[in-house]
Amino acid sequence: MKKVAAFFLFYLSAQVTFSQSNTTPAYKNSKLPVATRVAHLLSLMTVEEKAGQLNQVNGGAFTGPAANDPGQQAKMKMIQAGKVGSMLNVTGVAETKVLQTIAVEQSRLGIPLLFAYDVIHGYKTIFPIPLADACAWDPELSRQAAAIAAKEASAEGLHWTFAPMMDISRDPRWGRVMEGAGEDPFLGAQIAAARVKGFQGNFGEENVLATVKHFAVYGAVEAGREYNHVNVDRYTAWNVHLPPYKAAVQAGAATLMNSFNVFEAVPASANKYLVTDVLKKQWGFKGILVSDWNSFGETMTHGYAADSADVALKVFDAGSMIDMETRVMVSQIPGLVKKGKISMQALNEAVARILSIKFKIGLFDDPYRNCNPERQAQHVFTPAHRELSRKAGQRSIVLLKNNEQVLPLQSQQKIALVGYLAASTDDVFDFWVAAAKAPAYNPVTVQEGLKHAGANVVFAKGFDENNRTTQALTAEAVAAAAQADVVLVNIGLSGKLAGEDRSLAQPEIPDAQIEILKALRQTGKKIVALVSAGRPLVLTKAEPYCDAIVYTWILGTEHGHAVADVLFGRYNPSAKTVMSFPYAVGQIPVYYNHMNTSRPDPTDGMGNWYSRYRDIPNEPLYAFGYGLSYTSFAYSQFSLSSQQLKKGQQVKATVTITNTGKVAGEEIVQLYIRDMVANRIRPVAELKGFQKIALQPGESKKVSFAIDAALLSYYNELGQLQLEPGEIKISVGGSSDKLLSAMLQYE
Ligand code: NOJ
Repeated sequence: MKKVAAFFLFYLSAQVTFSQSNTTPAYKNSKLPVATRVAHLLSLMTVEEKAGQLNQVNGGAFTGPAANDPGQQAKMKMIQAGKVGSMLNVTGVAETKVLQTIAVEQSRLGIPLLFAYDVIHGYKTIFPIPLADACAWDPELSRQAAAIAAKEASAEGLHWTFAPMMDISRDPRWGRVMEGAGEDPFLGAQIAAARVKGFQGNFGEENVLATVKHFAVYGAVEAGREYNHVNVDRYTAWNVHLPPYKAAVQAGAATLMNSFNVFEAVPASANKYLVTDVLKKQWGFKGILVSDWNSFGETMTHGYAADSADVALKVFDAGSMIDMETRVMVSQIPGLVKKGKISMQALNEAVARILSIKFKIGLFDDPYRNCNPERQAQHVFTPAHRELSRKAGQRSIVLLKNNEQVLPLQSQQKIALVGYLAASTDDVFDFWVAAAKAPAYNPVTVQEGLKHAGANVVFAKGFDENNRTTQALTAEAVAAAAQADVVLVNIGLSGKLAGEDRSLAQPEIPDAQIEILKALRQTGKKIVALVSAGRPLVLTKAEPYCDAIVYTWILGTEHGHAVADVLFGRYNPSAKTVMSFPYAVGQIPVYYNHMNTSRPDPTDGMGNWYSRYRDIPNEPLYAFGYGLSYTSFAYSQFSLSSQQLKKGQQVKATVTITNTGKVAGEEIVQLYIRDMVANRIRPVAELKGFQKIALQPGESKKVSFAIDAALLSYYNELGQLQLEPGEIKISVGGSSDKLLSAMLQYE
């Protein structure tokens, strides 16, 4: 007791001395410019403390292999010693406050920690998976979803999200296609910028730092197998993979994450070309770079670095900075500096970037700014947030087929709802559901959504969580169908099969589900398939048994409500695919912006010897940019304001779109180009613009796109934009496979 009192007295007298002598260090003076504060703090830091800023430590659940965990006590000691700069996987006001208190009040210089977390599609209010969200082709909506995720995450102690993921994905075998915006670099770039702005806002207390990941070209893992080799040339990297990352950097992204893969046979974390030449020099990135989970350490597994010191030197020399969970920076940098292998100036430059962000978001002035219990109580999982999630869900659902207008459903129709997935809370939620844990944050199932909509529904499981059916399950489903006017069958794959480490060699509808579809078809009832999945699945076997196909993806908290809204026509679907849906697995990768071949088709003069499969079509089952509405749209009067484009000038492409159906609807009007002859071969089509318009029945609207040389240009291997004189095909339409075209002469 005496001891405590003595400590308290000492503490009080220390406070008095401190304020009397007025010795507030310059770096703690909020009136001074950030650069001055950073310089002062750096001048006080030991090399060990500087290396500590490059050390990111896991505090909670593991989101990678747990090889290096020293235990909670040891981590607290590291924080006290100033050897931790940031943490991941610690959430909540109380939890972050405990650790921040140790950093701020018990470490020598009191440098606050940054708390980071994977807030991928919402924090507690979960939004559609990013791939689905991109299908709305609505960057403003993507921005709003990210802003709400930031508001909730920041109210629970976090400063930093490891999102948006912006890897171009052409291979649905890869589980992580769910996290990105699909196969197109132009759309990907727009959405990247929107998500960054949504998360970061103006760096206020309701915002979080965004992380553009995974830098770079992670989406090109061979054969879609997770963590696999990547073999992409610079020309392809610049034109296909780098544009979204670049757009995100230009939108002001504060941080980027290294990817696990290699680029040009050098691990991305240690890749000087990517990190220093492209990111820092060419794009002028001034922010922070964080490794992926142990991606520094994995440079050894790649066979690129020999030991921890070699790793630290190689990644540091490449320009990388923060080490997530390998601990090579904190353990090796001091020694490397002492040996003269890393200069203090270079170390200061890296650490200054991290400190600058901490100053910029006000952490030195109020380290507990995100530890406010009132905000935590009021800003999370609110009705307004759920409402936006529902709206985003409606706009993410893609109507792939609707024969004889079987949809929308009429309210009096008797519905048989078949399929385990329609009643599962788990399987339409994961992957990456941040802090939205069951049961408090369970999503609305399709079964519940239909019930809340007042539908007359009988449910039959049809198949189980392991995609197995039995005679009894089939009989029950058929009996339910026999009593119904229409049958809804929720097929697809569990969300648990989407995401990191969820590669599938056969992204297809499981056999048992096909069997159920066949049995239901025999009842003669109209069959509507609702497909939930985190990736485009091969639907070729299922399609003939379905009158309608509604691709519902994984929509988050409001999943079932959004699905019911679309089924009953309370929202007329408007989404369009952002990845091509393969006809068969053997066709993968299949994407719309492929190169022309030397023998593209029978009209090329080579007769029957052309680039094709003998057993399946070349075309995907559903093309990029495709999606139906409950109304129909006609495209007419496509024209260019001039057939010639000169440098520095613009040409306008204009088209008229008419709603030729009976209900109001929205259409996503797409602009594509094709550079017919260039110094490098160019894709057969490239998206270069889109607009979403709303039309009443019978209404027409003109849509125009401005075209200039910059829009038509492409990157060479050095990352320079170029465009040679020649013919460019300009096309518009509602899907990449159905376009009106005209020729434009450049110069
Ligand atoms: C590994 C994943 O690749 C990355 O996307 C994620 O942000 C980190 N783990 C942290 O959880």
